[in-house]
Amino acid sequence: MYEYKLMCGIVGAVAQRNITEILIKGLQALEYRGYDSAGLAVVDSEGKMTCLRRTGKVQSLADAAKTQPLLGNTGIAHTRWATHGKPSELNAHPHLSTHIAVVHNGIIENYESLRNLLIHRGYNFTSETDTEVIAHLIDWQQRQQGGSLLEVMQPVVAQLSGTYGVVVMDSRDPARLVAARSGSPLVIGCGEGENFIASDELALLKVARRFIYLAEGDLVEMTHSSLSIFDGQGNAVQRAETAPQAQYHAGDKGLYRHYMQKEIHEQPLALQQTLTDRINNGKIDFSELGSDIADRLTNVQHIQIVACGTSYHAGLVARYWFESLAGIPCDVEISSEFRYRQPVVRANSLLITLSQSGETADTLAALRLSKTLGYLASLAICNVAGSSLVRESDMALMTKAGIEIGVASTKAFTTQLAVLLMLVAFMGKKKGRPEAVEHKIVHALQTLPVKITEILTWDNSIANLANNFYDKKHALFIGRGELYPIAMEGALKLKEISYIHAEAYAAGELKHGPLALIDENMPVIVIAPKNSLLEKLKSNIEEIRARGGELSIFTDKAAAFNESKGIKTIQLPQVDDIIAPIFYTVALQLLSYHVALIKKTDVDQPRNLAKSVTVE
Ligand code: M6R
Repeated sequence: MYEYKLMCGIVGAVAQRNITEILIKGLQALEYRGYDSAGLAVVDSEGKMTCLRRTGKVQSLADAAKTQPLLGNTGIAHTRWATHGKPSELNAHPHLSTHIAVVHNGIIENYESLRNLLIHRGYNFTSETDTEVIAHLIDWQQRQQGGSLLEVMQPVVAQLSGTYGVVVMDSRDPARLVAARSGSPLVIGCGEGENFIASDELALLKVARRFIYLAEGDLVEMTHSSLSIFDGQGNAVQRAETAPQAQYHAGDKGLYRHYMQKEIHEQPLALQQTLTDRINNGKIDFSELGSDIADRLTNVQHIQIVACGTSYHAGLVARYWFESLAGIPCDVEISSEFRYRQPVVRANSLLITLSQSGETADTLAALRLSKTLGYLASLAICNVAGSSLVRESDMALMTKAGIEIGVASTKAFTTQLAVLLMLVAFMGKKKGRPEAVEHKIVHALQTLPVKITEILTWDNSIANLANNFYDKKHALFIGRGELYPIAMEGALKLKEISYIHAEAYAAGELKHGPLALIDENMPVIVIAPKNSLLEKLKSNIEEIRARGGELSIFTDKAAAFNESKGIKTIQLPQVDDIIAPIFYTVALQLLSYHVALIKKTDVDQPRNLAKSVTVE
């Protein structure tokens, strides 16, 4: 009966016009995160509250809203994603208690004891969720102490352990919303004579141009014309106002069939944006870090990277680069392991977190843990400027990929790699590497947007190749060196959106076990450009051929592979070894995309997944 909320969505509005449509449109903008049910509650100026909840897509909620009057100038709405506590109307938010309505992202860890306490006090529970305890606690507290919703919320949040972004409405005070944040992001959107709140500014781009991100522990009370923010100690505080951080009009797929396809094709532009202003006169310019901090990097003797999923794969590639190009020892770990492992910290170690969203719970927890362990400093490489990870790190370098909507990460990954490569050049110079290394990296990076544009023209050939995979149950991806993590990323992309079981191996490892799997039903995808490991990789390919394996080889002309029985090749343009991981990634993204198209899966919102994972 424990409810996990992997990136549910919240939208709230307090205005002087009917806000039902704004709430629904806001939820639709958050659909990409993955969810299984949706709901909203609105209250009119007379204090009449109407609540509507539906399982399935937000469209079902929108259709239902057309058939009954939903009038109100104040309201809250939610998309819920559950793994425990089945998707149902009763479990969907908002949750109600007498006059109170609540929407909530996060997990209330002590909900069972609170629930028992509230049952003992006479409350009936209608859902299996942890959120319902918040609604009843507020109602109870109001009955005990009276006072405004804000005054009641302070003692209520003090009783909650776990994580929450919560927005609350009281039908007896219909022109006001109160919200609290702890571990789950909330952003206020300021409109003209109206105020909004959401778990992601994307939900509010159509109604607000100024945004205020709440800090950990903040409570806010908002009406259509006022905002009062209080920190965890109850002091009135001001939080900085920011312009929208969405660089691209994310709600529009244009001529593309899917956001993922659009985002794959946006990569030349995203990479250009990420490189611009950071390369000056053939040198890396990270003046954005400030001179003091940049000087501290001179003392770095070790790098620890932590990240999850695709971002973790970017870290694995960077390890090869940091060690071979900058001579700095580097370790990489999955955040969920790092946070519970009691790591021993090397002297003068820099902690680097990688995250598209900047809200991934395990990566945030790893960052928070690192602060107690004596790292030299923390650096976030992230795609969302106002995110918790960026705000809580000592320094940050933004990937400038624009908002990524598809659950399968594409342009965020390649721009992470571009930032990491710039950092390798920058740190290498600080560690006394010859200038030629920086020049080589800069030169390779400058060719990147054009090279990625070029590889996108291979779309049709890769689409043809996809016909060999759609009916397969399993696939193996192999590579060597820094292309091994790219094989891992290729396998993750394929399993994520086509539901084909795919694994990646360092090619030299095959004979230690996985060769037993090779037969005609186990396609093997190889990343094999001409590089210093090609001859080794060719021996591994022969081992597969000798056992009847079916190979699809992503390669270049210089590697000199010929098509023959059991071998298909995609011969791509030659690129500098340094950027090969970024270049070959795009080819594998296209492969997964086309396999998913043939299989007719939900490309942008694959089953069981959410865009960012804000609880562990
Ligand atoms: O937002 P983050 O980069 O921290 O997210 C980490 C992973 O959840 C994410 O990369 C996930 O693996 C993607 N869906 C992969 O495409």
